[in-house]
Amino acid sequence: MALPELDRKRLPHHIAIIMDGNGRWAQKHGLSRAAGHEAGMKSVKAIIRACRELGSIEVLTLYAFSTENWRRSKTEVGTLFRLLSKYVALELDNLHKEEVRITAMGRLDDLPSRAQEDLRHAVELTASNKAMTVNVALNYGAHAELADAARAVARDAKLGMLEPESIDESCFSRYLYLPDLPDPDLLIRTGGEMRLSNFMLWQLSYAELVFSRVLWPDFRKRHLYLAIAEFQSRKRRFGGR
Ligand code: FPP
Repeated sequence: MALPELDRKRLPHHIAIIMDGNGRWAQKHGLSRAAGHEAGMKSVKAIIRACRELGSIEVLTLYAFSTENWRRSKTEVGTLFRLLSKYVALELDNLHKEEVRITAMGRLDDLPSRAQEDLRHAVELTASNKAMTVNVALNYGAHAELADAARAVARDAKLGMLEPESIDESCFSRYLYLPDLPDPDLLIRTGGEMRLSNFMLWQLSYAELVFSRVLWPDFRKRHLYLAIAEFQSRKRRFGGR
C-alpha cells in the first residue's frame, strides 16, 4: 500500500511514542509475553530507521519502561531489560554509524546494573552524534520527574543558588531530566488505549495526540506516516487564535 504524502517542510521536531500492545499481540498469536516484547523490538528498529530517513526529525522518544512497570512479574521485567541489553549489543554500532545520539531519561539509578552499564556505554559513545536523538524513557514517570525536579529546585534554593521569586516555568523546566530536548510536538500511542499513562505530562502540554489502534509489534513506517499526516492535518494554535 502507498505511503501517505507528507509535507517535508512541516515534519514534527520531536515524536514521542507510547509503545503499547506487545502483550495483546502475543496473546493474539498464541505466544508468550516475552515473544511480544521481542517482536516489539523489530518495530523499534523500523521506526528509528523511518524517522532517520525522514531527515528532519530531531528527537524520537520511546517509552520503554515506566515507574509502574515494576508491578509486572519478575520474569517479564527481566525479559524487558535483557532485551534492552540485546538491542544495544546488536544495534549500537549501526546507530552510531548513522550519527544517532542516544539519551535516556528516568530514575536510571534504580535500573538493574547491567542495563545501567549498557545504557551508559551507548549514551557516552554516541554523545556527539548530530543526525537525530533517540531518547529512551526507562523507569520513567512524569510524577517522579516532577517530584525529582521540585526536590532539586528546593535544594538549590536552600543553598542560596536560587531565589524562590525567580522560579517560573522556564526556570523550573531546566530541572527536568533532559531540559535541552525540544518538547514533543507529536505524541503517538499505539494499542488503542487513549490515555497518557504518566508520560511527559509537563512536556506534552501542546503536543498533538494521535492514537493508533495498531498493536506496537505491528506498527511500521506506514503507520508512522499516517500519524504524521494526521499531525499535519491539525491546526496548532498554542492557546492563541
Ligand atoms: C507495552 O506493551 C510495552 C512495554 C511495556 C515495553 C515496550 C518495550 C519494548 C518494545 C522493548 C524495549 C525497548 C527498547 C527501546 C530497548 P504491553 O506489554 O503493556 O502490552 P499490552 O497492553 O497488550 O499487555
